[in-house]
Amino acid sequence: MRVHSAGLNPIDYKIFHGGPAAVRNEAVPPCGNGNDFSGVIDELGDGVTGFQIGDAVFGGKRMHAQADYVVVDATRIIGKPAALTFEQAGGLDIAGRAAWASVASLGLTAADTVLVGAAAGGVGMLACQLALRTGATVVGTASAVNHDFLRDLGVIPVAYGDGLVDRVRELTPTVTAALDYNGAATIDAALQLGVPGMRINTIAARGHRAGTGITEVGGQAATLNDLEALATLIAAGEVVLPIDRVFPLENVQDAYRYLMTGHARGKVLLAVR
Ligand SMILES: NC(=O)c1ccc[n+]([C@@H]2O[C@H](COP(=O)([O-])OP(=O)(O)OC[C@H]3O[C@@H](n4cnc5c(N)ncnc54)[C@H](OP(=O)(O)O)[C@@H]3O)[C@@H](O)[C@H]2O)c1
Repeated sequence: MRVHSAGLNPIDYKIFHGGPAAVRNEAVPPCGNGNDFSGVIDELGDGVTGFQIGDAVFGGKRMHAQADYVVVDATRIIGKPAALTFEQAGGLDIAGRAAWASVASLGLTAADTVLVGAAAGGVGMLACQLALRTGATVVGTASAVNHDFLRDLGVIPVAYGDGLVDRVRELTPTVTAALDYNGAATIDAALQLGVPGMRINTIAARGHRAGTGITEVGGQAATLNDLEALATLIAAGEVVLPIDRVFPLENVQDAYRYLMTGHARGKVLLAVR
């Protein structure tokens, strides 16, 4: 694969800062960085079928994507729909899988009102749109600057921080489920709002309130078919995936400094070529 765009995700800096994520991913520097990529097939390995040199594709390879070229298993890539930009495709693997699997895990229906924590982030905005497609009502936490953006998606925005529970109660009489993409505060608010633990899923606060039935379904539960289905929805304009900022590869440090502010709206990418 000749890489065109490489997406950034919080897991990258959790790995390169060391700690549990680095241990889980067996990251031993010096090593590569980044997972998400889009690009063009440059060479085919023996026995690969279904792809040709020159095909535009996208996918992920943990700690390898931010490079001119990536050697990747053909079972880990998907043909890029023509209407999906290289930037959108290059930012989809981790956030798309996580959004798809976490929303699916709750079995939402039109009878649900779901609280989404960090609704305007890379995962959160996709999850909000997938939750809305089930017919559920979606209340999403975000800074005021993102409230109009969320309203345009069909999400009822609410500010996070002190008083969240009271603000949600003013917006809706009942909350039946919660999707957490930021941390403990969303989980605690959901429990206080009467959501049973087994109807709360988190991908951002491992082990928080253990024993209450909270699930931790993330991207690993999503298949390549799920990712392809999401890419098709984005290509058709039925789900939007805004690109917040694109940095040149040589400015990768600035790109991570920006992502680490924690206020990206949509995806942050590196332009590799
Ligand atoms: N397990 C998995 O499969 C998996 C996969 C992907 C991601 N994750 C995890 O999920 C989390 C989100 O990932 P991401 O890619 O969506 O990150 P991201 O794009 O960096 O998230 C940024 C969002 O977080 C919001 N935010 C910042 N502070 C907040 C607070 N105190 N309360 C609520 N929201 C806050 C921001 O909202 P405003 O700008 O509106 O303030 C912004 O929209 C990360 O912890 C990541 O590691 C796990």
